[in-house]
Amino acid sequence: MMHIKYDIVTEDNIDFLEELCNKLMTFQADHATIRPDILASMDFNNRLKIDYENSTRKHMVVAFDKEMPVGFAFATIGLVTEKNKQVRPPWAEQLEGIGFYPETYKVPKTIGTFKLLYVDANYRTHHIGDRLTRMIMKWLNSHNDVEDLWVYVANGNETVGKFYEKHGFLYNHSVFNGFIDAYRLQKG
Ligand SMILES: CC(C)(COP(=O)(O)OP(=O)(O)OC[C@H]1O[C@@H](n2cnc3c(N)ncnc32)[C@H](O)[C@@H]1OP(=O)(O)O)[C@@H](O)C(=O)NCCC(=O)NCCS
Repeated sequence: MMHIKYDIVTEDNIDFLEELCNKLMTFQADHATIRPDILASMDFNNRLKIDYENSTRKHMVVAFDKEMPVGFAFATIGLVTEKNKQVRPPWAEQLEGIGFYPETYKVPKTIGTFKLLYVDANYRTHHIGDRLTRMIMKWLNSHNDVEDLWVYVANGNETVGKFYEKHGFLYNHSVFNGFIDAYRLQKG
């Protein structure tokens, strides 16, 4: 019988998640049909570590089998303004189409973003992903100023949209002409 422990991570150093995070990045690149090279250029250092260090409002939950991390989920809360609504990350410079928010998106708005979710392949189908997601959603829903929740699914991994739908998200729009699917959960 598998015994999994769930921890909320508060320490500054999350290097212990490097291997697991890189497995997620590899998974996404391996499944993509649109610009897999862009997804292949992402790793722990240029995605999760930077985001974690630069975010003041963040939540990281990790599933452990004894001392070994076998799954994690990460979310942030931030403000979308007129200025940063149109901002494209450096990796999206060659991509076209609507960005992370629809052009008609009313801002300023405080939003929660469910950034990353991964369960090691050997540990899937045991409801670890579900538990991590419920912990993330509890945190995101505990802030009264958060008006909208977003989660993004890389191309090639569209089936996972069903997983997020179970947690209340609805498909909203295609980001960068199909490179990513955006799901949204409107609060209130
Ligand atoms: C998606 C992921 C985190 C799910 O973790 P998991 O621990 O295997 O999932 P659970 O056992 O908690 O599954 C909960 C439910 O979601 C469903 N589900 C799980 N993964 C799914 C997927 N990829 N697509 C559709 N449904 C899925 C399960 O069938 C289960 O349904 P049930 O409650 O009716 O039995 C895991 O498969 C994973 O890490 N995949 C690769 C990376 C990935 O896709 N991450 C998300 C990137 S946006």
